[in-house]
Amino acid sequence: MTDLILTEIDGRVLKLTFNRPDKKNAITHEMYTALADGLQRAREDDDIRTVYITGNGDSFTAGNDLADFRDNPPLGGEAPVNRFLGELVKATKPIVVAVNGIAVGVGLTMLLHSDVVIAGESAVLSAPFVDLALVPEAASSLLLPRVVGAANAADIFFTGRRVTANEALTMGLVSRVMPDADLKEGVLEIAHSVAAKAPQAVKLTKALMRKDKDVIAARMQEEGGHFNTQLQSAEVLEAITAFMQKRAPNFG
Ligand code: COA
Repeated sequence: MTDLILTEIDGRVLKLTFNRPDKKNAITHEMYTALADGLQRAREDDDIRTVYITGNGDSFTAGNDLADFRDNPPLGGEAPVNRFLGELVKATKPIVVAVNGIAVGVGLTMLLHSDVVIAGESAVLSAPFVDLALVPEAASSLLLPRVVGAANAADIFFTGRRVTANEALTMGLVSRVMPDADLKEGVLEIAHSVAAKAPQAVKLTKALMRKDKDVIAARMQEEGGHFNTQLQSAEVLEAITAFMQKRAPNFG
């Protein structure tokens, strides 16, 4: 059990909240396990109709914990992050997300597997895998170009640029932007309203919109192979060490 992910049942909504604000909600192995447990529970429990995800503090999540990447890299298929990504793909109920601030790495790529994604006006999204000498994960090399177009996806991946909430709206990465002060309550209300709709119609609609699970799983596996190779490389070590030492990396 960890209190770094808060898991609550609120009527028919399962709420998952990143709760490590001092580290910008960076995700550790135990947090991935808690997220995967929550998603599995939502998949198996008929009384849960939607999943709501948000973050405490000023960030949604700064993505994978970089110290974990360095000290305890998630190399096996059974690594908690892979279980989490698998549960995202297997999810049968709508995932409703309030992006309440910084969303980096998997904080952005998990949105591609979520259904109703709404950003607070101060949200900033980025996927700086290449900056970290890594490659895209969570099938984002397939899904991000689909959602935002090839040009925007290449710009996001290769430059590591930060996309503002309004840019994300224009690109179709989020469906609405709300004032920060209204975001969490407003999005939770949406999660409850979807949860009150006919459950079979909701599940069928999600299934129809996400039919290519095999293609997505295959891409995740392909990305995972490269990701794992890179995680063990000198260039990733330099990128992470540079982050820890608060300096720019030197790739020679
Ligand atoms: N892993 C581990 N620790 C992280 C982290 C991460 N992904 N992101 C932030 N933190 C930690 C910082 O090390 C810092 O810890 P400290 O107070 O002990 O020094 C704390 O969270 C606050 O971060 P800081 O960088 O001071 O905040 P900021 O507002 O200046 O910048 C970010 C926020 C998210 C832009 C910046 O922290 C960042 O770029 N993080 C890395 C994001 C990343 O590359 N994620 C992996 C993607 S695959």
